[in-house]
Amino acid sequence: MQAAAVTLSLQKIRAAGIAEGSAKAMKQPANMEQNHPLFRQVYDYMVNRIVREEWKVHDKLPSIRMLAEELQVHRLTVFKAYRELASSGRVYVKDKSGYYVAPAGMLREEPTAEAAAGVPAYSLTNPMSDIQRMPVQYQFSQALIDPGLLPNLFLSDYVKKVFDLYPKVMGTYSSVQGDPELRSVLSRHYQEHYKLQLSPAELLITSGAQQAINLIAGLVLGPMDYVLVERPTYSVALDIFRRAGARLLPVTITPEGYDLEAVEELMRTCRPRMFYINPTHHNPTGHTVPARQRKLLVELAERYRCLLVEDDPFRDIYFGGVPPAPFFAYDTEGWVIYISSFSKYVAPGLRICAVACRHPFMERLITAKSMADNGSPLLNQKIFLHYYTSPRLQQHLGKLRIALQVHKEIMEEELAGSGWEWTAPEGGLNLWIKLPESVSAAALLQRSMEQSISFVPGELCDPLGEMTSWLRLSYSFASENVLREGMRKLMQLAREL
Ligand SMILES: Cc1ncc(COP(=O)(O)O)c(C=O)c1O
Repeated sequence: MQAAAVTLSLQKIRAAGIAEGSAKAMKQPANMEQNHPLFRQVYDYMVNRIVREEWKVHDKLPSIRMLAEELQVHRLTVFKAYRELASSGRVYVKDKSGYYVAPAGMLREEPTAEAAAGVPAYSLTNPMSDIQRMPVQYQFSQALIDPGLLPNLFLSDYVKKVFDLYPKVMGTYSSVQGDPELRSVLSRHYQEHYKLQLSPAELLITSGAQQAINLIAGLVLGPMDYVLVERPTYSVALDIFRRAGARLLPVTITPEGYDLEAVEELMRTCRPRMFYINPTHHNPTGHTVPARQRKLLVELAERYRCLLVEDDPFRDIYFGGVPPAPFFAYDTEGWVIYISSFSKYVAPGLRICAVACRHPFMERLITAKSMADNGSPLLNQKIFLHYYTSPRLQQHLGKLRIALQVHKEIMEEELAGSGWEWTAPEGGLNLWIKLPESVSAAALLQRSMEQSISFVPGELCDPLGEMTSWLRLSYSFASENVLREGMRKLMQLAREL
């Protein structure tokens, strides 16, 4: 089936007079994938039509499904070609609408071999975002909460209230560092709930944790710098560090935390600039680094002058006990930066995140933020502030924890007896699954996308790109019925592989 599709597609492409090399490849299908992968041929085919102006600037391009049918290749192949076209600036994406031909000014030069060699981890792709942009019926790839479980109605109440209280809110910038009222509420909250000693001047409001990671990476990392990362980890952070040209040093995370001797050895020999950690209900594994390791790791960071960047968006999403205090609570010398996003359990659309760090790094961060966007929207900060200080927040969190635990248990129930393995998480949004050796997550994804089921293949979360029989399934987005149905379909597909 697959071989036939490959041959047919090559005939089509050749008939279009494009891929000269493909004719040779047709006689040697085994080498073809190696030397000139199919998606690359589709890419070339598209570039050629764009260059010949059969598709003009700002023309809408055929959908993935239509092009896959036309060329008789798999949709994922076309998807991959589109991804490359987008990253080379040939096309651009409009959300929920499709792909369009980009104007010449968007074209990025291909990196030369020399440049690529000088920046070993060079990359301009974000495969996670590509998977998540595909509209699917069974959504298990987004570590996001079902919008039906979020406090949308209450937030819209506050929208009206905020306009009454601050009639000029749209007519003004926020301060670059963030609304002082919000920072002062958050610093009190962090003291009471997370044991963090903080002043409002030590907080910066960013547009999501992703912006925070980006700003920090921009300040701290240069080409060839080492950065320690958990293995596995949040794949977008890996893409950001790669784009900065940094070299990734993986540190395995287990239910017991890290191997601190190995971490110390890496810090001693490689002198990494920073260690990016997500130590509480970690994405993707759900593990939480135990309290005893937190203090020790902060001491190591201080000794080896390695910044700890603690990304903590899942702290309040727990099913059992309250997790241990953040690493930031143990920091005495300013070697920890604490990122606390509210995208997960309040409102991803508001893009509110607080970054805590000490002087003098805060000044540098504020400058970077001013260059990025001159401050996050004041309206969003005020809406968030009024919700955050109302008793509704804690009520919402109480109900949300129960709902998410039910989701998690449904997923686990459906997977029982599958032969798939995972460690039951105590919080967070995902199951990190080990498939039987015979099943490849990439092959399963290819099949599952055809059935409108998405998940994150483990290799995207692996700094070494090797965890091919792992996958991340998010139980937080799909409704209970969709979750059951989708899991059954997914396991059936795995059995057929
Ligand atoms: C560990 C981690 N950090 C950061 C983010 C991005 O958060 P935000 O939406 O606040 O940018 C995510 C989103 O999934 C995440 O899992």
